[in-house]
Amino acid sequence: MDTALKTKRLILRRWQESDAEILYGYASDPAVGPPAGWPPHTSVENSREIIKSVLSRPETYAVCLPSGEPIGSIGLHLKGSTDMTDREDECELGYWIAKPFWGQGLIPEAACEMLRYAFEKLGMRAVWCGYYDGNEKSKRVQEKLGFQYRYTTHGLNVSLLNEIRTGHTNLMTKERWQKAELFREQKKTLDTFLGTKAISQAQYNKSLGDLRELMQMHGVE
Ligand SMILES: CC(C)(COP(=O)(O)OP(=O)(O)OC[C@H]1O[C@@H](n2cnc3c(N)ncnc32)[C@H](O)[C@@H]1OP(=O)(O)O)[C@@H](O)C(=O)NCCC(=O)NCCS
Repeated sequence: MDTALKTKRLILRRWQESDAEILYGYASDPAVGPPAGWPPHTSVENSREIIKSVLSRPETYAVCLPSGEPIGSIGLHLKGSTDMTDREDECELGYWIAKPFWGQGLIPEAACEMLRYAFEKLGMRAVWCGYYDGNEKSKRVQEKLGFQYRYTTHGLNVSLLNEIRTGHTNLMTKERWQKAELFREQKKTLDTFLGTKAISQAQYNKSLGDLRELMQMHGVE
């Protein structure tokens, strides 16, 4: 992707070496890297090296505020840089966001856009996503995005931290994402109808209930 992707509150763009100082400020926090399997950054120079070696990989983006300030990272790890798949048409989603921005639904928002990009632009058939046992925040993000549990691996070697952990792996297929998109669009239409008073609250509640039932029948909610 050459141009940036935009969501309601964020811009997703390529990392630049000039981001090193801000990156260090956020990624030196021990609450951020270790849950994701990497050590806190040790200096601005270390952050610059990581921008050059890791964050410059294909399909890896700085999660930025509208001002352009990077506050996190999100990426699709393609064949060769993930151990979750060896297929060209599958990849792994990875993400983190700086602690002051936790709990605002920003990573789910960025991830929604990355999934759209993966399926619609990159032609992926499936996106994998995992979290280490105990990372309830990341587990919750994947639940909210609609990922489905696939398997658990014990004895994973987290080499950067010299630790052995248990990992849980989830999957989003293109088919599941398309169905969920359809339902999201229908809900948006209902919201608009309610907002413009084209339907009453009772009609809205009934239609939303029917929609949820349909979603459950299709295994999407
Ligand atoms: C996991 C992470 C990416 C979530 O991003 P986010 O934008 O905060 O996501 P959300 O706002 O949707 O919050 C997800 C859940 O985290 C929990 N949470 C939110 N803010 C929190 C806070 N300040 N303290 C503790 N838990 C919090 C809530 O359970 C929330 O779920 P809810 O919306 O059902 O209440 C972020 O916490 C992070 O970067 N953590 C460190 C790195 C990491 O774990 N990366 C993922 C590796 S698999």
